[in-house]
Amino acid sequence: MCGIVAAVAARNIVPVLIEGLTRLEYRGYDSAGLALLNPTLTRLRSVGRVAELAAQAAGQTAHHGIAHTRWATHGVPSERNAHPHVSAGLAVVHNGIIENYVELKQELLAAGYVFNSDTDTEVIAHLIQHTLQSAPDLFAAVRLATARLTGAYAIAVLREWDDSIVVARHGAPLLLGLGQGENGGNYAASDAAALLQVTRRMIYLEDGDVAELRRDAIRIVAADGTAAHVPADRPVHESTLSADDVELGEYRHYMQKEIFEQPQALAATLEMIGGAQTLSPNLFGVAAPEMLGGVRSVLILACGTSYHAGLVARYWIEQLAGIPCSVEIASEYRYRVSVPNSEQLVVAISQSGETADTLASVKHARALGMGRTLAICNVPESAIVRECALRFLTRAGPEIGVASTKAFTTQLAALFLLAVTLAKQAGRLSAGQEAEQLVALRHLPVAVQKVLALEPEIKAWAARFAAKQHALFLGRGHHYPIALEGALKLKEISYIHAEGYPAGELKHGPLALVDKDMPVISIAPNDALLEKLKSNLKEVAARGGELYVFADADSAVDAEDGVHVLRLPEHYGLLSPVLHVVPLQLLSYHVALVKGTDVDKPRNLAKSVTVE
Ligand code: G6P
Repeated sequence: MCGIVAAVAARNIVPVLIEGLTRLEYRGYDSAGLALLNPTLTRLRSVGRVAELAAQAAGQTAHHGIAHTRWATHGVPSERNAHPHVSAGLAVVHNGIIENYVELKQELLAAGYVFNSDTDTEVIAHLIQHTLQSAPDLFAAVRLATARLTGAYAIAVLREWDDSIVVARHGAPLLLGLGQGENGGNYAASDAAALLQVTRRMIYLEDGDVAELRRDAIRIVAADGTAAHVPADRPVHESTLSADDVELGEYRHYMQKEIFEQPQALAATLEMIGGAQTLSPNLFGVAAPEMLGGVRSVLILACGTSYHAGLVARYWIEQLAGIPCSVEIASEYRYRVSVPNSEQLVVAISQSGETADTLASVKHARALGMGRTLAICNVPESAIVRECALRFLTRAGPEIGVASTKAFTTQLAALFLLAVTLAKQAGRLSAGQEAEQLVALRHLPVAVQKVLALEPEIKAWAARFAAKQHALFLGRGHHYPIALEGALKLKEISYIHAEGYPAGELKHGPLALVDKDMPVISIAPNDALLEKLKSNLKEVAARGGELYVFADADSAVDAEDGVHVLRLPEHYGLLSPVLHVVPLQLLSYHVALVKGTDVDKPRNLAKSVTVE
């Protein structure tokens, strides 16, 4: 989704803006642009890759600038809709959606402003320009103008002859970077990865904050009008991200890198429990012993892949802890009339911690009086983490590929820890059983590593899929969400229409679609449902469907004509979904490679969905 970088420094900031945008490419975008002050305004925009903008910017120098990658919401991807948008000598970049832009546009048209794009952002540029007629300076004008906006935004603004850049956030991520060393300067960006090139010292802005950046000073004013002096009110965080975390290294794509990083990501996430034989609820925050104590049911809220992690967790929580658990897509929950339950634990799962619908769903739950909130998230200090009373931070490291992989498996590890903790509190796990579950959990990195070794066979399968238009993924029990996730991965990056189904539902509809052109991928672990699943597979084979079965080493499923079988090295009981998702990730990755799609930045999708 849109990315923002802003810089004001004694050095030439053009390379900083370009490098920052390159670091934000993973968020998904369709056009890019920047505005430089010298001290008059230069605006450059291009449809397509940041590299094209970089070519246009070659030879430019400036000490003030704002830059943007756009993911189209209002208006098609085109140069005229690309940011920055300008009003006289003032330029704005924006991430988010302004809901009252139509009313504001009418007002500004009546005041004589001319619009040159279809975006909601251009309204912000003219509104600030208009407000400047009665405001003492740019900072005051941005404060007054943003007070009139409804919706979500992070913005950066500059204007000719002014030596400051003003930024503001409300409902979309934005952080400041405080320059270090002789190059100094001050910066702002949508996420830390964009600024690691210049600093590790970051300030996460709060909703409602407006900040002014100058070469050697910043000031932040909160929505309530009180001036906040850094670092007193907005703590400075030292980022622990390493530059290697966001480099491709030996890999061809971030998705490939992230799939192969899973053993390490799981190990890092599980480091939090060390060698403990028993879990402490404190793992989820200081207030957890009290908050988790009275929990009678669980409500999980999430979107996309994170929602699938929640679906797996439902099986674990109900089976281990005996507590009812429902899982809901955040964008549905936030708008439906539901029955609040203050004894319910609300769990928000999010890789980015910024997904607008997930954030809004937690706020909605809180407004309904549900205060027991837990964030399972990969980004410290993100909006969802800050919104929730409890937190568990996965340690997957930055996930750049749009299709989520290592974030998913580490979310599963975190959710399993939650299920065990709740089971213990419910008195349903003996010390021995708990220790056994923890041993299985700690073995996951090694087990996943072994699954990754299946890549050559999966690659061979992928070659047969690339020409297909549709695919069906089947699973049962706690592997049903893995079938959903396998289908999501394939459609996201290879653009093949894919559906995930519980295998038992096959004959209630999807069987009608099965023929030789519809590959059916089935997850067939050696569990209590295997025999039932085998009957479902027979139904497919009888209709001439081509079956691709991911079985366990000891699953009694044999390859035959039209049935291809790949065996995972270990049979893993409750944690088996964590292993079974890995070959499906590899399958979609290799199908995408054969098809030649843009693996890390699939068309129309964004990594961090900060708008509804
Ligand atoms: C987008 C991403 C998905 C992700 C979903 C939820 O759609 O492309 O990979 O699963 O958002 O994101 P979150 O950051 O909340 O997990």
